Amino acid sequence: MRVDLLAGATYLPAVMPSPVPTILVFDSGLGGLTVFSEILKARPDARYVYAADDAGFPYGHLSEAVLAERAVAVMERLIGLYDPTLVVVACNTASTIVLPPLRARFSVPFVGTVPAIKPAAQTTRTGYVSVLATPGTVARDYTRDLIETYAAGCRVNLVGSRRLAGFAEAELAGSPAPDEELLAELGPCFVEDEGGRTDVVALGCTHYPLLLPRLEALAPWPVTWIDPAPAIARRVTQLIGAPVPGHEADEDEAIAVFTGGAGISTPLREALRAKGLPLVTVEDMPLLLG
Ligand code: DGL
Repeated sequence: MRVDLLAGATYLPAVMPSPVPTILVFDSGLGGLTVFSEILKARPDARYVYAADDAGFPYGHLSEAVLAERAVAVMERLIGLYDPTLVVVACNTASTIVLPPLRARFSVPFVGTVPAIKPAAQTTRTGYVSVLATPGTVARDYTRDLIETYAAGCRVNLVGSRRLAGFAEAELAGSPAPDEELLAELGPCFVEDEGGRTDVVALGCTHYPLLLPRLEALAPWPVTWIDPAPAIARRVTQLIGAPVPGHEADEDEAIAVFTGGAGISTPLREALRAKGLPLVTVEDMPLLLG
């Protein structure tokens, strides 16, 4: 079973409805496509820019200071280029750190995504909840605060995966990782002892739903998987309103922007086209460390 509940609460300023809004969906890579697909279903008439900061991927391995600076720099470029009505930071690793500096720097509204700990706690029957996320997200104070606030009565097992986001990228680009490698990342989510066993796994990285059919097939027992993407899409439509009949964007204009582009291959272009992003471009922004 898959539950689609809203991730932890974020501050969401009101947005003036616009007949054809431009929605910029941002992630470190391809994971935000899981969120983009849900938003596209809700607002098929909007203009879309999907931005993958692949030059900075994986965000889960960056320090908080580097990540905050990086996200602001990438946004500076993209907001200047595309003038979006609203930006969706479709990345837990980034949202748990960069929303305050982004909101301080830019006037455009930002919607973030943070680990769906509250819905996981509301869903579990055994009280054994696992949160599968990047090493960055599981280390965040933000994540620990969510657990204290919403899941104090649960046994929350934080699982930081170093490789799963990369496996999700490879899956979409047509090079799936072997089952045993996926299982090595997934296995720690499944806890069983005399008190009970895990019955809910919150997918705390937007990349992971790209692997959901494989995760379901490899799971040692059935669990409820929580993917916050549909709830984020509902939040976006709450803010910018439902489609206005007669105002439509040209779907051939939806564009994917990469900050590096090294992984852009023919299978990836095809996958992007199939997801509604026929145009692909590169805004070269190397990640300079130190
Ligand atoms: N998709 C991102 C998230 O939701 C992270 C992947 C990465 O490590 O860059 O956390």
